[in-house]
Amino acid sequence: MSDAPATILIFDSGVGGLTVYREVAAARPDAAYVYVADDAGFPYGNQPETVLIARIIDVVGSAIAEHAPDLVVIACNTASTLALADLRARFAVPFVGTVPAIKPACAQSKSKRIAVLGTQATVNREYTHALIREFAAGCEVGLVGSSHLAAYAEAELAGAPVNDAAIRAEIAPCFVAAGGKRTDTVVLACTHYPLLTTRFKANAPWPVDWLDPAPAIARRV
Ligand code: DGL
Repeated sequence: MSDAPATILIFDSGVGGLTVYREVAAARPDAAYVYVADDAGFPYGNQPETVLIARIIDVVGSAIAEHAPDLVVIACNTASTLALADLRARFAVPFVGTVPAIKPACAQSKSKRIAVLGTQATVNREYTHALIREFAAGCEVGLVGSSHLAAYAEAELAGAPVNDAAIRAEIAPCFVAAGGKRTDTVVLACTHYPLLTTRFKANAPWPVDWLDPAPAIARRV
């Protein structure tokens, strides 16, 4: 048996997957890591599905051929909700995906009103709608698609943060108070968004739990 460390390949359209990497690396410090960011294809959230699926298979396939990982983490909701099934069908290596944390959010919500904040693509996907049908019984779920937040997160990490008004405009639709129920949990359904959690908290009209799925992904890994 080889005593070489296991190689874990982490894939995202950009820097968002680093929010998953930091949790996975803390859980598996013994592993070797390869991080693949498809910067040339960013942002994935604004691309047609047929173009994107072919691109993801191509980029992830090349990375698998080059690095022969023991496990691949698709650290991107936009890619996972679209291409996870195809990736699993095509490549023998095990995959761990990142999909909107609707089940835990509904389970933990006290007001039974949550929001799912993701790219336009992720909130429009049938995969996401199926999660709501399966796991959100008795819970109001608001789907909030953002065309800008992933780029804002890239800018934040690059040291060029956008202003508060820009952040407020993107998160405002998450906050709903109706029928005696106020949003108390927001699912961060894009791996870029945890890079903005401090900004979100500072610009929220009331405190909510911003649910980052990375610890759950790390446990799965
Ligand atoms: N990090 C990606 C996600 O989790 C999306 C960013 C993009 O639009 O490329 O959905």
